[in-house]
Order: sequence, then structure tokens, then C-alpha cells
Amino acid sequence: MDNRDALYNKRVLILENKINKDCFVQDIGNFEVIHSIYKFYKDKNLIDVCAAPGGKSILLQSLGFNVLAIDKSQNQINKFEENLNRLNIKINIQKIDFLKKNFSDKFNSILLDAPCSALGTFRRNPDVTLKIDQSQIKKHQKTQMRMLEKSLKLLNNDGILVYIVCSFHPFETIDVIDKIIQNNKNIKLHTIDSNKMIKRKNGYFVNPLSFKDYGGSDIFFVSVLEKLK
Ligand SMILES: C[S@@+](CC[C@H](N)C(=O)[O-])C[C@H]1O[C@@H](n2cnc3c(N)ncnc32)[C@H](O)[C@@H]1O
Repeated sequence: MDNRDALYNKRVLILENKINKDCFVQDIGNFEVIHSIYKFYKDKNLIDVCAAPGGKSILLQSLGFNVLAIDKSQNQINKFEENLNRLNIKINIQKIDFLKKNFSDKFNSILLDAPCSALGTFRRNPDVTLKIDQSQIKKHQKTQMRMLEKSLKLLNNDGILVYIVCSFHPFETIDVIDKIIQNNKNIKLHTIDSNKMIKRKNGYFVNPLSFKDYGGSDIFFVSVLEKLK
């Protein structure tokens, strides 16, 4: 495992000194998730299928990936482009509805940071618990299932698909992956090496208590899937 604590200290120092225009302030949990999974990808050409406003694409690009970023929302893409312009970084962004597009190519490396309830951000957005109800979570689950199934179809054998949501609700996390591995017998789930996450069936939750010294974190769920032959 790389020394992420040193990286976190460095980043907190940057923020304490000044927030300058070159910074992209992100939740520390986001950083932990990406640093825990990027080594599973065998091919650095990666498609991020729900990419905007770009937090994870930008981190992955900074780790040496060549990212094709797609998103269906022009609003979100505008924010992504603002972030790229401010940081002076180039990423290929395309406005595409992932569920509607017929792709001619297959991929070895896919990131699916799926639309979700965002319950895991309740520390920063307390009203999310008032806005979201169980029926909306079920709708999210359906979309997440469709996106996962499509991602698996687009993945080459031996390819890696990382599924992330900023939620702790079982419908969007453990249960989604349960259904996927029931429907697809050729999936291997990988073990993640992180002392800042809690291992549960089918994946890992970022533990906000790991980041007490940094003011806590959002809660993310992450699962690393490999498509076997
Ligand atoms: C959780 S956010 C992604 C956050 C982003 N990965 C980041 O780290 O900054 C989910 C994104 O999925 C996009 N989205 C939802 N449905 C989509 C679809 N069918 N095709 C492509 N993008 C979609 C939304 O517009 C939203 O920007």
C-alpha cells in the first residue's frame, strides 16, 4: 500500500496555507477510494461512464490514466470543463447517455461512479435524508443494475470494472452487487487493501472515522469486479 497518510497531510497543508485557483477541493473519501482501486486496472486507457463534474476522472488522469469521460448531463459537463480549465488539464469529455449509446468498441478498464441517493454525503448535505425516500432508492437501484449490466457487456474478458456510489444504503451497495453476481457467473470480486475502509459482503465502505483528524469524510461504497473468461 502506498503512504496515503503522508499524501493526506500534504493536501491538508495545502488547504491550510491557501486555497488557490489551481486546487480542486474534494472529499478525502473520494481520494481514498481512487487510491485504493487504481492499481487493479491493467490497462491505463479507461472509460469513466458517469464522469462529471470530474473528481474521479481528474484524480485518475493525475495517476497516469488516459481517461475517456462521458456524462449525459450538459450542466454537469459544464462544471467539469470549468474544473479542467481552472486546473489547466485536458480530458476527452463526451456528452453521451451511457444507457442509450451503442458502443462499437469494448474496454479493459471501466469506472462506474453511478447516480445514487447520495446518502453518504449527509454530513455535508443534511437535507439529503429529507429529500430521499425508499421508492427513490429502489429507482436508483434499477438504474445502477442497468448500468452495471451494460458495463459488463462492454468489458473485455480479464477487464476490470469498478463500481462506486456515495451511499451506504444496502439497496445501492451490497444488494446491487449480489444481483449482479447472481446474473453473471463469470465475475470475480477483488480484495481491497485499505485500513480506512470497512469490508462488507461484496465490497467496502469508506469509514469516516478513519478521517477524524481531517474532519471526517463522506461514505462511499466500492466494489472491484473482474470479468473472467
Ligand atoms: C455520482 S455523479 C458522478 C461524479 C463524478 N464521477 C465525480 O467523481 O465527479 C453521477 C453522474 O452520472 C451522470 N449520469 C446519470 N445517468 C447517466 C447516463 N445514463 N449516462 C451518462 N451519465 C449519466 C449524472 O449526470 C452525474 O453527473
